[in-house]
Amino acid sequence: MTRFVDVQALSGLVRQMGIAGFVTALADTLREDFLRWPDFDLSARLASHTALGVIELMPVSDAKRFAFKYVNGHPGNTAHGLPTVMAFGVLAEVETGYPVLLSELTLTTALRTAAMSALAAQAVARSGSKGSRRMALIGNGAQAEFQALAFHALLGVDELRVYDIDPQATDKLVHNLAAFPALRVHRAAGIADAVRGSDIVTTLTAAKTRAAIITPDMLAPGMHLNAVGGDCPGKTELHPDVLRAARVFVEYEPQTRVEGDIQQLDAGFAVTEIWRVLAGSAPGRGSDAEITVFDSVGFALEDYSALRLIHRLALEQGVGRDIELVPAAGSPKDLFRLTR
Ligand SMILES: NC(=O)c1ccc[n+]([C@@H]2O[C@H](COP(=O)([O-])OP(=O)(O)OC[C@H]3O[C@@H](n4cnc5c(N)ncnc54)[C@H](O)[C@@H]3O)[C@@H](O)[C@H]2O)c1
Repeated sequence: MTRFVDVQALSGLVRQMGIAGFVTALADTLREDFLRWPDFDLSARLASHTALGVIELMPVSDAKRFAFKYVNGHPGNTAHGLPTVMAFGVLAEVETGYPVLLSELTLTTALRTAAMSALAAQAVARSGSKGSRRMALIGNGAQAEFQALAFHALLGVDELRVYDIDPQATDKLVHNLAAFPALRVHRAAGIADAVRGSDIVTTLTAAKTRAAIITPDMLAPGMHLNAVGGDCPGKTELHPDVLRAARVFVEYEPQTRVEGDIQQLDAGFAVTEIWRVLAGSAPGRGSDAEITVFDSVGFALEDYSALRLIHRLALEQGVGRDIELVPAAGSPKDLFRLTR
């Protein structure tokens, strides 16, 4: 049977563990899998674009497990009462091809993207006494609370400066984060105001356009930029000179060249895959003054890690239920029996 974890089941699991607990477990799982990077059969995702958005399939496998995620990105969806990003995914055994897990991945995508951002920032943002305490959060939609709480739990960020062109999105974020009093939240008057004095700048905007939300005049020495919303051809958030002024870290270079903010630069622009920094085979930040960018687009291995964690927790804690996704009893050669 296939374990089915729907939105209610996943949200129950997250409520039980707490967001910090879940994101910490996910960051540990991501680290384990990124340290095994050469074990995986990697490919850029398959994307089907329209003027309104994109629908993508994201496969990855190692010798034991195959995973894929279905995900969309439609910035206009919220005006029709639908999320910008919606997803589900499957984990299967490589040995037989049997799908062992079918799971919601909309809530999970927000959790895994936040865990990945925090893991990358742990590797390359400033730490120690010149650490990262204040974060600007530009774009206060569905992903925002998860990024805020992952950076709070894993990097010690305790002050947020938040801004969205939609004040109601910021109202929602401020309201939701009021339950976490150790995290001080200030509404900024605009993007430059939010970024000024911040150690980390997280961009989480959704607009299918070549935006330059962060411009070079906003940069300060030592800043780390966690650029999450530029994740599709023709959809960016950073001015190209921001990238040129920084050391840029990516997930899977062939995919990020097409989808990330670095799509604006030529193919010779040097970037470092973050797994190399985690594995110690490439340097991270060079100095306290260096500007670093994590040009996040979302990679299949992150969903593999999330599905692997959900499957383990679901079996251990009885989360979700078993469904007959593929025919169970009876002769495997007599498929016709199901029609009688
Ligand atoms: N890199 C990844 O792994 C990953 C994962 C999930 C989502 N994303 C991307 O992150 C972005 C945010 O996703 P979401 O689910 O929160 O979307 P959302 O639609 O819920 O929220 C986006 C917010 O950005 C705001 N915004 C748009 N333009 C802005 C601007 N110029 N300045 C300030 N705010 C602006 C909107 O008003 C909205 O509130 C999307 O672009 C999505 O595709 C990336």
